[in-house]
Amino acid sequence: MPASDMEKTLSDYRQLLAKIEGRKGVANLAAYLEKHGLFKAPASTKYHLCFEGGLIIHQVGVTKLACKLRELLLPDTSEESVILCALYHDAHKVTDGYGHSTYDKNNTTTSEKQPYFWNTRQLNYSGGHKSALLISKFVDLTQDEVQAIAYHDGPYVPSWEDIKGDPYPLTLLVHYADMWSTWVVEKGRTKKYETTFLQDLKVELF
Ligand SMILES: [Fe+2]
Repeated sequence: MPASDMEKTLSDYRQLLAKIEGRKGVANLAAYLEKHGLFKAPASTKYHLCFEGGLIIHQVGVTKLACKLRELLLPDTSEESVILCALYHDAHKVTDGYGHSTYDKNNTTTSEKQPYFWNTRQLNYSGGHKSALLISKFVDLTQDEVQAIAYHDGPYVPSWEDIKGDPYPLTLLVHYADMWSTWVVEKGRTKKYETTFLQDLKVELF
């Protein structure tokens, strides 16, 4: 990715962080994550944004979307809550909070197919819950913030069963922003040809 794009991402990150830095513990959380590689981590081993800096691009993208959704759907929920949950929902992709990084670079011949490996020495615990655990070490989260972070993967993970009868609005909002960013924005599927393709498919079927 061009260096200027990363500069823009980091500038956007700083602006978002500035909006919540007044909350107790957030500045220390941010410093901790930065120290452990927030700006270097990929967003996945081989799926979305699996390159150095991919995670921060994802976090900023999800947070921008979440802020838009908040205006439309949850205006009475504080912007601070939305930014905090969205910006750090994938904190577990930096570190487990116990001294282990989440990803190891793949330095073998298969690196083109899978640029990173999952670090098997890290705490074996579900991703969303690991983020909630890590963030809670620094910030006193509210009830709905804890759920939104821990269950941001929604029905993509089996633990959704725990809360499917009563997901809080903030959980659904963060989940949806995460999905839209991952499956639509990051894959460039907002382009018109995708829609045309689906329309053509419909013509074929009917
Ligand atoms: Fe995510």
